[in-house]
Amino acid sequence: MSGLIIRHEIPADYDSITQVNDLAFEETAQSRIIYELRKSGEALWSKVLVKDGEIIGHLLFYKIWLDDQPIVAGLGPIAIHPEHQHQGYGGQLIRDGLKEADPEEHQIIFLLGHTSYYPRFGFSSEVGAQYVSPWPRPAFMGLKLNDAAPKGGTLTFPKAYL
Ligand SMILES: CC(C)(COP(=O)(O)OP(=O)(O)OC[C@H]1O[C@@H](n2cnc3c(N)ncnc32)[C@H](O)[C@@H]1OP(=O)(O)O)[C@@H](O)C(=O)NCCC(=O)NCCS
Repeated sequence: MSGLIIRHEIPADYDSITQVNDLAFEETAQSRIIYELRKSGEALWSKVLVKDGEIIGHLLFYKIWLDDQPIVAGLGPIAIHPEHQHQGYGGQLIRDGLKEADPEEHQIIFLLGHTSYYPRFGFSSEVGAQYVSPWPRPAFMGLKLNDAAPKGGTLTFPKAYL
């Protein structure tokens, strides 16, 4: 994988990020969510995967509140350009993004996604099901980063996601 860099997004990347998301999801809803999360200040950290100078992947983490405390985070959207999918880039981006999470600050990471994909990174539907959320089982999954994290409670999501 020569010429591959994963770095934080910068404003100059926004158009390419929109393009990658729109192509990967075949709709504009996810890039609108990204825009709204940035605008509301609910976006946390966000990484781009650059291959040979071109942005081909993007991943965002955002704020979620657990019983009104901003102590957990959400992963998503994640998008890999359709021409570059199934080559391990999504996995690299997820592992890189998770490394940035501070377990004291964000004790659990949640996501809504494919149960055939995310368990390999440690996410589980069982963890997701411990919390009250608007999302269905088993697609709603969680990854506990901190053993001291509350074992239940109600999750509040940014408006952009509802
Ligand atoms: C999902 C996505 C981010 C994965 O990135 P990727 O670089 O293609 O994935 P990787 O190469 O790291 O991993 C490939 C694995 O992902 C699985 N995968 C990819 N897309 C999938 C999908 N839509 N449903 C289920 N599994 C999927 C593949 O089956 C493969 O599994 P395997 O290793 O058991 O064969 C990427 O395919 C994508 O952008 N898809 C469109 C947008 C999307 O669905 N985003 C996620 C929303 S939950």
